[in-house]
Amino acid sequence: MLVRKSASFDSTLRSSDITPKDAAEKYQQDRRRFLTRAAALGAGALTATHLPSLLNPSQTVHAADKLQAAPSKYTTTENQTPFNKATSYNNFYEFGTDKSDPAKHAQTLHTRPWTVQVTGMVKKPQTLDIENIMKYRPIESRLYRHRCVEAWSMVIPWDGYSLSDFINFCEPLPSAKYVQFTTLLDRKQMPDLPGGYDWPYTEGLRLDEAMNPLALLTFGCYGETLPNQNGAPIRVVMPWKYGFKNCKSIVKFHFTDKQPKTTWNQINSQEYGFYSNVNPSVNHPRWTQARERRIDSSAFPKTIPTLPFNGYADQVANLYNGMDLKKFY
Ligand code: MTE
Repeated sequence: MLVRKSASFDSTLRSSDITPKDAAEKYQQDRRRFLTRAAALGAGALTATHLPSLLNPSQTVHAADKLQAAPSKYTTTENQTPFNKATSYNNFYEFGTDKSDPAKHAQTLHTRPWTVQVTGMVKKPQTLDIENIMKYRPIESRLYRHRCVEAWSMVIPWDGYSLSDFINFCEPLPSAKYVQFTTLLDRKQMPDLPGGYDWPYTEGLRLDEAMNPLALLTFGCYGETLPNQNGAPIRVVMPWKYGFKNCKSIVKFHFTDKQPKTTWNQINSQEYGFYSNVNPSVNHPRWTQARERRIDSSAFPKTIPTLPFNGYADQVANLYNGMDLKKFY
């Protein structure tokens, strides 16, 4: 996402466009601090608990299973991006910075056993097992537009349930105003972890954004459990925001009263805002956001106009009433 040369909206971004060196110099010290902190957190992980209210014995899900995803009202008439493109053109920097790296390298990620911590301003901090989280609510399929800040887009059938259901389960305290997501950090499973980034990857949302019905806690796509490169076994999908808000392979949900640290915003706050709502009238400093390259089944993807809030303005624009979206980009 850090692009050295100025790129137009329809240029193809390559690994050589990425500038880890500058970032490396700037963030090397921070990185060491973050890695130390992450290691400490791992050592202090809580014991997984099995919560009766998260159990639904009618459904058992294992890694690589088909998901029993029911159709939903969330759909679009646009052409679905083919599975092989959505699972081979990815951003998951922990497994390399080329678009083709995650599909090749993320197979080293172990998605079972997998636990998720719920921490911070909640009634009861706890650690949950992925199987129980997946069984908590029926899984539905939602066909969403997926718009990357790099000006490419896809249309993907994601499988999951409303993030709001999970947040309600977590019982945030009234004082909690934000939720922060944290991706797994494990150098053994991530031998290609690039230097110069504040690992682990973190993202965050205002709590009212996270509670919007469009926000999806996601376990699968195309009716199958998430491929590793797409963020197995659990990620979030926020269809009105740039793709980097969609934290992958989550191991922690942290509730807080302060706007949380988020990876790309920390790396370059001039280019990657905290809100990062898709907005064709606020350009990235180095390329236009007015159009996007739609990755579909064609060999030569077309560019199409980008829509405010990625076409979901009716459902989400009211979250930002009174806010200057050029300032809070
Ligand atoms: N999550 C983690 N942990 N690491 C990443 O590098 N990349 C983000 C987001 N989530 C990223 C991440 C970006 S930039 C995008 S566009 C989407 O994941 C890509 O999701 P996809 O590969 O499923 O299309």
